[in-house]
Amino acid sequence: LQGRGTFIFSVLCLLPQAVLARWACARACPPSCSCTQEKSCSVLCDRSGLAELPKEFPCEAAAINLDKNRLKFLSERAFGTLPSLKSLSLDHNNISFITPGAFKGLANLVELKMAHNEYISYLHTRTFTGLKKLVRLDLSDCNLFNIPDRIFIEQTALRELLCFQNNFRRIPGAIRGMENLTHIYLERNKIEAVAYNSLLSLGSLRYLNLQENRINVIHEQAFQDLVRLENFYLNDNLLSDLPRLAFRGLIHLKMLNLGGNQLTNVSKTWFSDLVEVEILYLDRNQLLYIEEGTFENLTSLITLHLNSNNLTTLPFPVFQPIYFLGRLYLFKNPWECDCSLEWLKDWMENYKLVRDIPCASPSSVAGLDLSEVVFTKVNGTCVDPAELNLTTASSEVASTTENRFHSLISKLLQQELREEMGNGTESRRNGTLVDSCSYLRHTCPLCLFLFTPLQM
Ligand SMILES: *[C@@H]1O[C@H](CO)[C@@H](O)[C@H](O)[C@H]1NC(C)=O
Ligand SMILES: *[C@@H]1O[C@H](CO)[C@@H](O)[C@H](O)[C@H]1NC(C)=O
Ligand SMILES: *[C@@H]1O[C@H](CO)[C@@H](O)[C@H](O)[C@H]1NC(C)=O
Ligand SMILES: *[C@@H]1O[C@H](CO)[C@@H](O)[C@H](O)[C@H]1NC(C)=O
Ligand SMILES: *[C@@H]1O[C@H](CO)[C@@H](O)[C@H](O)[C@H]1NC(C)=O
Ligand SMILES: *[C@@H]1O[C@H](CO)[C@@H](O)[C@H](O)[C@H]1NC(C)=O
Ligand SMILES: *[C@@H]1O[C@H](CO)[C@@H](O)[C@H](O)[C@H]1NC(C)=O
Ligand SMILES: *[C@@H]1O[C@H](CO)[C@@H](O)[C@H](O)[C@H]1NC(C)=O
Ligand SMILES: *[C@@H]1O[C@H](CO)[C@@H](O)[C@H](O)[C@H]1NC(C)=O
Repeated sequence: LQGRGTFIFSVLCLLPQAVLARWACARACPPSCSCTQEKSCSVLCDRSGLAELPKEFPCEAAAINLDKNRLKFLSERAFGTLPSLKSLSLDHNNISFITPGAFKGLANLVELKMAHNEYISYLHTRTFTGLKKLVRLDLSDCNLFNIPDRIFIEQTALRELLCFQNNFRRIPGAIRGMENLTHIYLERNKIEAVAYNSLLSLGSLRYLNLQENRINVIHEQAFQDLVRLENFYLNDNLLSDLPRLAFRGLIHLKMLNLGGNQLTNVSKTWFSDLVEVEILYLDRNQLLYIEEGTFENLTSLITLHLNSNNLTTLPFPVFQPIYFLGRLYLFKNPWECDCSLEWLKDWMENYKLVRDIPCASPSSVAGLDLSEVVFTKVNGTCVDPAELNLTTASSEVASTTENRFHSLISKLLQQELREEMGNGTESRRNGTLVDSCSYLRHTCPLCLFLFTPLQM
């Protein structure tokens, strides 16, 4: 009887599907599952306490959900032949062994999810045999230590590989040369290094997540093939330095996260090519020193996170020339609020792009926020708070912020104009600030940033 049922079913599968689909999907629904036929046949067997796979699934099944059961084992051809199956989910089971060839017969499977199976620690080279159309594979939160180098030999269409929260100690060699991969999730593993060939030929990769590993070494050419990379998470590793040209050629990078490492110096060679980066995280390191010109080529930068470091000062030239129109995060640094940070206070007050800059020194202003520090001027020159008593700094001595800001601007303007125009005293006296600005806009992007709000 069972043999005949299977035979009838095989015949039905060969018929044009439209008429029979709805009926067939429901008719062959496994016990303890529910089946719905909307656009396609979905088989829902999640949270059903299953310790074993159902014997049979509707042959027109397009999606099968077996999440949150107690499955332990997948035999060869565990799902039979399901030519319409696109999506199979086995998340949150207790699978510990997958027989090679378990997915044979699922020739059109696009997405396979096996996340949260904490006893999968090993996969055979032929585990995914037959899955030639697979685009998305989720093996997150299993217990994998490695996977065989040739495991994806048939998965040439694979685009997204999710392997976060496993026990990898190196980037799996299996991904090398997978030129169709666009997304790789390897966060929360135990990866210690990125070798020159770890990420070879991943020319389509747009998203790479290596956060929360133990990476302390990156080879100089490790990222050189990632020419389309847009989002790169390297945060919360053990990096104390980076190769000079680590990110060379990553001209499409939009977001780079280097937060939560042990960097002390930022080299101006690191970000040379990152002309499309909009968000850069350097927070939670131990930065003491940022080389002048470091942000010079970051012409798309919108947000820069420098908070929670050991910075005491931030020389104006670090930001020169500046295209920076967004937010700057500087809190939790031991700022030394002397005259060298006066420009920053002006910036803070006028653009509201920066706030929360607590001063650690000099002692006369320790505990204050930079916005509260009154820089006193004697004959137009800022005098460090250390040299004066705060209480004596009356409003007479300190000019208003606005005036000081204007003087900062006119200093810059004069310098620029003198360089550009020689003795243009006449035109300067006659020209308004606005004229000068529109002139400067062509020569100095900084001015766009510094001057625009003033005219309002
Ligand atoms: C899951 O599998 C492991 C090992 O295969 C076993 O020790 C454990 O009891 C199983 N857990 C459940 C809930 O079945
Ligand atoms: C990438 O995909 C194309 C088209 O699907 C395929 O021809 C090619 O072999 C794939 N490349 C790799 C390295 O798998
Ligand atoms: C950081 O830069 C400073 C100043 O250039 C230099 O003295 C120091 O050696 C550098 N430290 C490292 C770890 O590169
Ligand atoms: C900025 O880009 C130019 C042109 O590519 C390059 O010559 C220069 O060295 C870069 N600046 C830095 C700080 O790397
Ligand atoms: C940064 O400051 C922390 C304490 O605030 C200190 O433990 C650490 O050694 C400092 N790092 C450097 C490189 O100075
Ligand atoms: C300020 O300028 C006046 C006159 O130009 C001069 O007498 C005085 O010594 C100057 N003060 C300081 C602190 O330079
Ligand atoms: C400066 O401060 C000290 C202690 O805070 C005080 O004794 C002294 O009189 C102050 N000097 C002036 C000129 O106000
Ligand atoms: C600028 O003006 C000074 C004095 O007015 C003059 O001696 C000098 O030659 C002028 N320089 C130029 C480049 O015009
Ligand atoms: C100022 O500029 C205007 C036109 O831009 C001109 O007519 C006028 O003579 C100039 N004044 C001086 C003092 O140069």
